[in-house]
Amino acid sequence: MDAPLVYIVDDDYSLRRLLEFTLKSWGYASQTFANGELLLQALDEQTPEIVLMDHMMPGLSGLDTLKTVRDKYPDLPVIMLSAQGKIDVAVELMRAGATDYFTKPVDLKRLQFALNNAMSIHKLKDKVRQLQETLESTVRFDNIISSSGVMQNVLKLVDKARNSDINVLIEGESGTGKELIARAIHFNGNRKDRPFVVINCAAIPRELLESELFGHERGSFTGAVDRKIGKFEAAHTGTIFLDEIGELDMTLQAKLLRVIQTKQFERIGGLETYTSDARIISATNRDLLSMAEQRSFREDLYYRLCTFPIKLPSLRERPSEIPLLAEHFLNQFAARENKPGMTMGADTLALLQRYPWPGNVRELQSIIERAVLLADGDSIGPEDLPQALRFSGGRSEGGLPAEIFSTREDVLPLEKIKEMAIQRALRLFDGNMTETARALSIGRTTLYDLIKKYDIRP
Ligand SMILES: Nc1ncnc2c1ncn2[C@@H]1O[C@H](COP(=O)(O)OP(=O)(O)OP(=O)(O)O)[C@@H](O)[C@H]1O
Ligand SMILES: [Mg+2]
Repeated sequence: MDAPLVYIVDDDYSLRRLLEFTLKSWGYASQTFANGELLLQALDEQTPEIVLMDHMMPGLSGLDTLKTVRDKYPDLPVIMLSAQGKIDVAVELMRAGATDYFTKPVDLKRLQFALNNAMSIHKLKDKVRQLQETLESTVRFDNIISSSGVMQNVLKLVDKARNSDINVLIEGESGTGKELIARAIHFNGNRKDRPFVVINCAAIPRELLESELFGHERGSFTGAVDRKIGKFEAAHTGTIFLDEIGELDMTLQAKLLRVIQTKQFERIGGLETYTSDARIISATNRDLLSMAEQRSFREDLYYRLCTFPIKLPSLRERPSEIPLLAEHFLNQFAARENKPGMTMGADTLALLQRYPWPGNVRELQSIIERAVLLADGDSIGPEDLPQALRFSGGRSEGGLPAEIFSTREDVLPLEKIKEMAIQRALRLFDGNMTETARALSIGRTTLYDLIKKYDIRP
């Protein structure tokens, strides 16, 4: 780092020289000025770290200069020097905002101490300002933990989308927080006082799904004993969250496309046409685009739904968030189970960070929930975590499966072990690349590269 810069202001030439010289030996760079006017001019050009200024100067006095500096640069430390040792002078200067005050002849030891002190306060203030700036630029929503850059980008998109009526498609593996994001968009947007209606397209049998979405008239099919309002009708002026949209069959896809295009629909068995001004947020853990390429999802519908796509990263892609999430869930469940003040050891946290989390945040949540119940005492230990987690890493001795090597003779080249591990994992997941890569905590591209490198045949 450059030497911190100090502006020295004194009408006494020899004192200026002395201070300049002394400060240099203490590791400061300095510029000298013969009066207050010159200082004020120089400050307009560049602000130093500290100002060291004489009290009694011809022209603009030290006190008046100090007042001006304070107004314009409230955080700039100004140390005052005075030939008079009177207490009321000291009080006046301090009141005007001097950081410190010295009488001449200056005790150099004390001056050095005061300068260093002012420097550390200055640095601290800078740090606080920086922190404040990052804090102000971070987007936050209640209940959503996000410390990683990738999640910050997600929340920025949420912030952009929330007050708009644009159709949002949330993509992400199961348990990554898709519904949480959908709710954040609705409940922070201008439809927040209107209904938020959820429909899970995977959980409802095909025959019932259409009536769930659009409603039916009495007697329109066997079992339709009463008239029923559909979700689109219920979500009018609010938001409809179409979860697992990839599970919709072709006929329903066509009907959905029509509501999106015209906002109109009919109840099953009904003749009347209704209008639904529902904002559409959909979610999927499938790759809709490749489904569209394979003709199992309508391409036109896909483009309608994903006008504003939000891709949620898997938990593997943001391991830095694991400790915060773990703590969040720990507090939540500890409070629920009436075990306040529960903590988690570093070894437990290390295991959590090593695990590949195929079930993402939801899996982390339920593992912590269970651990809070299991824990004796007020700390969660490795023994409170499931087996799969305790032995997933292989970095700790106990986690290394005995088959790899248990004696010196067994030790193999690392590359060989990697090759064997990939072969074994591929076999265990029946050659499914996505699942194999996920279990190995590597990207699919990396997996392809390694398969090529080791010449592994499926
Ligand atoms: N960033 C986060 N901060 C706090 N809690 C989170 C976060 N992400 C997810 N969760 C919690 O994890 C659980 C799973 O999230 P959610 O139900 O939104 O996931 P999902 O992607 O819809 O999962 P699925 O595909 O299984 O339906 C919820 O209880 C949610 O509150
Ligand atoms: Mg969900």
